[in-house]
Amino acid sequence: APSSIQSPAATQPDSDGGEKYAKVNWDELDFSLTCTDYMYVARFSAEDKFSPGNITPYRNIELSPAAAVLHYGQGLFEGLKAYRREDGRIMLFRPDQNALRMQMGAERMFMPAPSTEQFVDAVKQTVLANKRWVPPHGKGSLYVRPMLFGTGAILGLGPAPECTFLVFTSPTGHYYKGSEKAVNLCIEKKFHRATPGGTGGIKSITNYSPVFEALKGAKAKGFDDIILLDAATGKYIEEIASCNIFILKGDTLSTPETLGTILPGITRKSIIELAKELNYKVEERLIPVEDVLAADEVFCTGTAVVVTPVGSITYEGKRTEYRTGEGAVSHKLRAMLTGIQTGLLMDSKGWTVLI
Ligand code: COI
Repeated sequence: APSSIQSPAATQPDSDGGEKYAKVNWDELDFSLTCTDYMYVARFSAEDKFSPGNITPYRNIELSPAAAVLHYGQGLFEGLKAYRREDGRIMLFRPDQNALRMQMGAERMFMPAPSTEQFVDAVKQTVLANKRWVPPHGKGSLYVRPMLFGTGAILGLGPAPECTFLVFTSPTGHYYKGSEKAVNLCIEKKFHRATPGGTGGIKSITNYSPVFEALKGAKAKGFDDIILLDAATGKYIEEIASCNIFILKGDTLSTPETLGTILPGITRKSIIELAKELNYKVEERLIPVEDVLAADEVFCTGTAVVVTPVGSITYEGKRTEYRTGEGAVSHKLRAMLTGIQTGLLMDSKGWTVLI
C-alpha cells in the first residue's frame, strides 16, 4: 500500500453552498494516510477501566521515551470502516466485534480495555467529528483506526502503569492500488508471522513489522503481498501479511482455522456466514500448500482489502493462476458484503450501525 501522507485539506462546498465534504479527490483514493480533523483520546490507569475520553483536534501525541509501547511493544490496534449510504447517512460495520477483539488482546497484553459501549461510542464520536471526510457513496470509506497502547513510563519488564485508547480516521479507497481486480502473491518460506503460543491470534502491533523485510523483497519482485506459512512445520498456509485467506475448490470454501496463530478477522467471519447462506460448504481447517495450488479460486479478506481476488500465486518459482472476475465466487461474496456495508442490500443480520 502507498505510504504518502496528506494533511487536512480545505472544505469543498456542496451544491447547496454548505460545507459537506473535505476537499479530496474522491476518485483517486487509495490506502495512503490522509489526516482528518479530530481524534478521540482516553487514558486509563492500570486499575481504572472507565476514564471518559474526549474528542480533540488531530495532532501529534507526546510520549515518554520510557513508554512501554516503545520498548516492550505493549500495543494493539483495530481497523473498521464507516460508509456513506446513498441517502447520505453514515454506517459502521460490526464495531462491537472490534471492541471484543480489542478486549481479548488487552487481556493477553495486560492492559485495561474500553468496554464495548465505550469503544463503539468513541468510534461513533470520532466518525461524526470527521464526517466531512467520509467519502461520497460508492467512492470509498472512512477507515477508523482504534488503538490501545502502554503510554506509562516503565523500565523493568512489565505492563505500563497507564494506557491510552486513541481513535483516528483516514478516508481510504482500494488497499492494493493498481491491482484492484486481482492480486499476485508469493508464498514466503523463510519468515513467519506468528508462532504457536505467540500473539498471532490478537491484533498486536508486534505481529506486523516482523514481515516487513519479506514483504519488501516480494514487492521488489512485483508481487502485491505474501502468504505466510505456519512456523512449526512450514507446510500449511496461515495468513497473508495484511489479511486472511480463503481457497475455493468446487463448492467447498476453506480458510485456515484460528488456532492462536491466525487473526480472527471480522471480514473473515462475515464471509463464512455469507458463503453458508449461498450454500457453499465452509471448512475451517489446516490447509497444506498443495491444496492452495490445486484450488479454483483464492481470495483475501480483511477490513482494508475487503474481498480481493488472487490472480496468481508463485511458489518455489512456479506460478499458478486462479479464476477471477465477474464469474468468480469471490465477486459474488464481495458484492454481498459491500452491499450490506454501504446500505444497498438489506442487513438482515444486524451487522450495520447507523450513526
Ligand atoms: C485492516 O484490514 O484493517 C488491517 O488492520 C490490516 C492492515 C495491514 C491494514
